[in-house]
Amino acid sequence: MDYFVIQGGKRLRGTIKISGSKNAALPIMAATLMCSEPVVLRNIPDLSDIEYMVTILEKLGVRVDRLEPGTMRFEVVDESISHADYETVRKMRASVCVMGPLLGKRLHARVAMPGGCSIGTRPIDLHLKGFEALGADVDLIEGGDVDCQAEKLEGSEIFLGGHFGSSVTATANVMMAAVFAEGTTVLESAACEPEVEDLANFLVAMGANITGQGSPRIVIEGVDRLDGGEYTIIPDRIEAGTFMVAAAITNSELRLENCRTAHLMAATKVLEDVGVFVEKDNGDVIISSSRLLQPVEITTQPYPGFPTDLQAQFMTLLSLAEGNSVITEKIFPDRFLHVAELNRMGAKLRKEGPIVIVEGVKRLIGAPVMASDLRASAALVLAGLVARGTTEINRVYHIDRGYERIEEKLNAVGAEIHRLDR
Ligand code: EPZ
Repeated sequence: MDYFVIQGGKRLRGTIKISGSKNAALPIMAATLMCSEPVVLRNIPDLSDIEYMVTILEKLGVRVDRLEPGTMRFEVVDESISHADYETVRKMRASVCVMGPLLGKRLHARVAMPGGCSIGTRPIDLHLKGFEALGADVDLIEGGDVDCQAEKLEGSEIFLGGHFGSSVTATANVMMAAVFAEGTTVLESAACEPEVEDLANFLVAMGANITGQGSPRIVIEGVDRLDGGEYTIIPDRIEAGTFMVAAAITNSELRLENCRTAHLMAATKVLEDVGVFVEKDNGDVIISSSRLLQPVEITTQPYPGFPTDLQAQFMTLLSLAEGNSVITEKIFPDRFLHVAELNRMGAKLRKEGPIVIVEGVKRLIGAPVMASDLRASAALVLAGLVARGTTEINRVYHIDRGYERIEEKLNAVGAEIHRLDR
């Protein structure tokens, strides 16, 4: 099993190219199930989660061809199977994104109920509520599968807000299920994330009739079919935000290529309050920072608020600020597995329910730590970059799910990260 050994204290300098967005690519790949002609997707990131989605789609009758790095061709060749089994789904929660396309196109979807994960219970009640509102019968059947089927789907007005606000993949799933539904579907309290907007733009490019994407109110007019075509995935804003922190925490200057600051307004605002300089330069971003980091308060919110997927990375940064910061996690209140690991490295973090008080310290100390969820693992890599001495990060498979060769990208700008196997 791979692990990282990081020698801390290196200043970084140079350019990092941001890869395609994992959380846009996954639902868009699932949406190819709905297309009657072949689809070519570009800027797909090279991640294990992407490989899982390819496997799932092949089991569901999609032929997937790798044309060149980052570019794949998808063609539906068999529509007889609409069951994604537990063995496949348990490896990646996002496989739940095949439900909407299967129900929308084949009027049947049977998917293993995704379990919880290290960041929370992750229910899908909003997904299922949306499917029922479109006219599907939804049953929990033996073996933990959820079975959705319909004679036909009819447009409906659907409120998709939950206890924690909007839901990214519920919005994606119900929007996809509504593409062929008769009449008009209105999604109120829809997720506004750029990844949902990118999915809607893909569907429209294939022939869907969708407006309002990127706003809390999305309107879908049913169409008869989706064609095929070519589409390029947006850059990954969370990978970009992670590397912004890498520059800030090592007091370095980094250029991030292919980085859309419009997708990172909340995180950029916080960085500037901390004392980090974010300069736009023709589609790139140049990050530099003043040596002293100021403490701030962060509360994670649905987009355009501060993203929960950057909470752990910013906690690492703020652990070295000149004072006390407060981080409140409103999306996944238990998303704090990185707290104990960072404390092993000398951070002073105190968890009070969904809040963590971050008492700034002068330095972090290298130590063996354990990766857990994808973004907590990235936060540990960032800590290792700046910690005194050597940091060993176990279970880096978590990182490979969402970051394309992170050690290669960081080593290319001066970090010293070794990927070893034990
Ligand atoms: C997506 O997960 C992302 N994953 C997550 O990124 C991200 O953290 C999350 O959105 C929030 O931005 C993908 O896009 C593949 P939600 P998703 O439904 O859609 C509750 C990463 O690191 N909820 O927006 O599963 C839920 O429990 C991953 O790349 C319900 O109550 O998240 C949470 O508290 C981690 N019922 C809140 O809503 C539902 O039916 C937001 O979850 C669905 C969600």
